[in-house]
Amino acid sequence: MLFSIHTYGCQMNVRDSESVSAILQAAGHSQAASEAEADLIIVNSCSVRGKAEDKALGKLGLLCAAKRDRPGLIVGVMGCMAQRLGPEIFKRVPALDFAVGTRRCGAIPRMVRRALAGETGICEISDLLETPDVPDAHDGTACTAFVTILLGCERRCSYCIVPDVRGAEYSRPAAEIVAEITALARGGVREVTLLGQSVMRYGLKNPVSHDTDTPDRHGLTEPFARLLEAVANIPGIARVRFTSSHPSGCTDQLIQAMRSLPQVCRHLHLPCQSGSDRILKAMRRGYTRAGYLDATRRLREAMPDIAVTTDVIVGFPGETESDFQDTRSLMEAAGFDNAFIFKYSPRPGTPAAALPDDVPAAEKMRRNRVLLADQDLRGALINQRLVGTVQEVLAEGPSLRNASRWSGRSSGNKIVVFEPDPALEPGALVNVRVTRAAPQTLYGELVL
Ligand code: SAH
Ligand code: SF4
Ligand code: F3S
Repeated sequence: MLFSIHTYGCQMNVRDSESVSAILQAAGHSQAASEAEADLIIVNSCSVRGKAEDKALGKLGLLCAAKRDRPGLIVGVMGCMAQRLGPEIFKRVPALDFAVGTRRCGAIPRMVRRALAGETGICEISDLLETPDVPDAHDGTACTAFVTILLGCERRCSYCIVPDVRGAEYSRPAAEIVAEITALARGGVREVTLLGQSVMRYGLKNPVSHDTDTPDRHGLTEPFARLLEAVANIPGIARVRFTSSHPSGCTDQLIQAMRSLPQVCRHLHLPCQSGSDRILKAMRRGYTRAGYLDATRRLREAMPDIAVTTDVIVGFPGETESDFQDTRSLMEAAGFDNAFIFKYSPRPGTPAAALPDDVPAAEKMRRNRVLLADQDLRGALINQRLVGTVQEVLAEGPSLRNASRWSGRSSGNKIVVFEPDPALEPGALVNVRVTRAAPQTLYGELVL
C-alpha cells in the first residue's frame, strides 16, 4: 500500500513516525508522494494540551469523511492521544480503522492486514510497563537525525499527561544507541539529537550496559554524561544535541562533559515552566526559582556562549499577577535565547486537573502575549550581539524561503541563512560571519 503519516506533537512523535515508516517499508509498503495519493493514512497524535487533541481529532474526522470518495482508504491513529483515549476513540471517530498505543508501533503492519481483511475498530493499546522495541530508522537523505534514548517519563509534573501516555522510564542500552548512531553516521548523518522527556535521567532507573562504576579518563561516572561522551566519539558525528533537560540534571559532570566535548552543541533546552516558587511547587517541578537560576548561572560560567531556551506555562491554577510577574522576571534574569509559551490546559486525570482552572482564557491570552513580546525584544537583542561574530553552521541545504540561499543551524541552535559556495554539500560544517540579525534568524556570509 502507499502510506502517509501525519505527525503532531514533539520530536518523540517525529521520531516514532520515522520508525513506523521504516516498519511499514520493511513490510512491503511504500511512502506515498502526498497524502492525496495514499491508501493508508496514519495520524500520529499528541495529547499535551486540549488543542493538540482537537487538531488530531479534527484531522481524523476529515480523513474518515474522505473515505466516502476514496473507497479502500484505511485510516489509523497512533501516538499519545490514541494511548490516552484507547477504545473510546472509536466513539469519537466511528469510521476509524485502527488505534495503536505508544509502545506498539511494531503491531501496525498486522493491524493494516486486519483492516484490509475487512475488520474495523482494531485497537491495541500499550501496557506502559512493557519494554518497547525501538527500530532503527533513517531515510538516508538528511544530515541530522533524532535518536530516542529514554522512553517514558516518571516525573509526574502535576499538569502533565505525558507520564500517563508514555509510561514508565526505559533507558535503551548504551551499546544499542551507539550502534544505531554509528549506522546513521555511515549513512551520512553528521548531527544527532538524543531524545527523552527528561533526558538527563538516562540510565538512572534501568541500568545501561556501559560500566559506570569506574570513572573514565575525564572522571565521568554518570550514565548520561558517559553516553554523551560515547556518542561524541563516534566517527563521523560532528555534533550532538539533546532534549529536554531539567535543572536537577545539570550536574557538574554534565557541565564538564558539555564543556570538554567539542561535538556537544552549546545549547540547552531547559524548561522553567514558571518563575514563582509557589506555582513551581504546585506544579511539582522539583526545583525553586533560585535553583533554576543557579543551574543557568553554572552553565554560563562554564560555557559563556551557551544558548538557553525554555518552555513556560501561563495561567496554571491559582497563578496570580504577582506569580506571573515572577515568571517575567525569571525569564529576564535567565536571558533566554528563545521561549515556547503555552496556556495552561487541564489534562484529564492529572493532579492539577482537580484544581479549579481559575485564570480566565482572556487573561491567559494576555499573559501569553506579554511574555512573547518580552521574548521577542530579548531574542532580538541577543541575536543583535551576534552580528560580526563567526558561527559554526551545519549546512543543511537550500533555505525554504529563498532557494538561492542555504540555511543551517549554529551550535546555539539558531537558524543561519547564507550564500552558499557552489561546491557546498549538505552536512558540511562551515563558518559563517553574521552580518544581520532578525529575532528568529541570523544572516551572514561564508568565511573561507
Ligand atoms: N518533557 C518535557 C516537556 C514535554 S511537554 C520537559 O519536561 O521538559 C512540552 C511542554 O508542554 C512542557 O514543557 C510544558 O511547558 C507544556 N505543557 C505540558 N503540559 C501542559 C498543559 N497541561 N498545559 C499547557 N502546557 C503544557
Ligand atoms: Fe511532563 Fe514533567 Fe515529564 Fe516533562 S518532566 S514530560 S513536563 S511530567
Ligand atoms: Fe505530545 Fe506525546 Fe510529545 S503528548 S508533546 S506527542 S510525548
